[in-house]
Amino acid sequence: MKKLHRASAASSCRGLFIFQMVMVMFNNTPTFWANSWNRHFEEYIQYVPFQAYYLYCLLGEYDANVLEIAGGSFHDTSALNNWGIACTGIDTCREVIEKAKKAEPTLNRKVLEMDAKQMDFRDKTFDVSFHNGFFAYFSSDEELRLLIREQVRVTKRLIVCSVHNALNDWLREKFRIFSRKDDLYNLRFYTPQRIRSLLTPFCRRVEIFPLQVPEFDRLITMTNARDFVKGIYNKYYHACDIRRCKRLMAVGYL
Ligand SMILES: C[S@@+](CC[C@H](N)C(=O)[O-])C[C@H]1O[C@@H](n2cnc3c(N)ncnc32)[C@H](O)[C@@H]1O
Repeated sequence: MKKLHRASAASSCRGLFIFQMVMVMFNNTPTFWANSWNRHFEEYIQYVPFQAYYLYCLLGEYDANVLEIAGGSFHDTSALNNWGIACTGIDTCREVIEKAKKAEPTLNRKVLEMDAKQMDFRDKTFDVSFHNGFFAYFSSDEELRLLIREQVRVTKRLIVCSVHNALNDWLREKFRIFSRKDDLYNLRFYTPQRIRSLLTPFCRRVEIFPLQVPEFDRLITMTNARDFVKGIYNKYYHACDIRRCKRLMAVGYL
């Protein structure tokens, strides 16, 4: 019996060890991003800037100044600026910044090379700040808290953290298969409870909104009419089945 206990303790230790190994295995180095963007940049800039549309649904009339953190392809920063919403973007990957500026010259003075852990902005510079997919490559909650604290520091009203939805089984399976060939898909998914609990200590209130719901994505693709989409989204987002959206848009009210 004792042997059995010892064996099961050893196996659960092994399990924990393997779990920790898996936890630290997300690749997030500058070289990883430079290589990933060499493979994926062209495809990303072709995508509909869905995050910009869903963010637009949350903006109030006085939200004049927006920050995108870890913008990568910066196609959302670009869309917001094209709509007349002043948006600055930052990222640590010099290569992707160069690619983004070359693809969209209007981004020239809008995107900056900067680390999200220590941003070169004064307190409360932006009304709203957001990122999409950034938290997917961090296994340490401690690191995430540093990032959230810094995001809160530079923001006045809303922080938006869009993360991959752990409740979407179809998406998890797709990423599991894709990750066999490409590390970009080896990433962290979040449940609504998990992302809420990370943001809660820093915010007055946290709300989780569905991002990339098939029906709304279709509406966006078909109409491009952001004010129409905003009206429909704000009326019906409550009715969405959260398990079907690709991302969760965690919003912290400051
Ligand atoms: C998943 S990509 C973001 C994709 C982006 N939302 C888009 O639609 O193109 C994550 C980005 O985070 C950037 N990144 C990683 N660590 C960073 C840090 N500490 N500060 C700023 N950016 C960082 C990477 O260079 C990469 O471009």
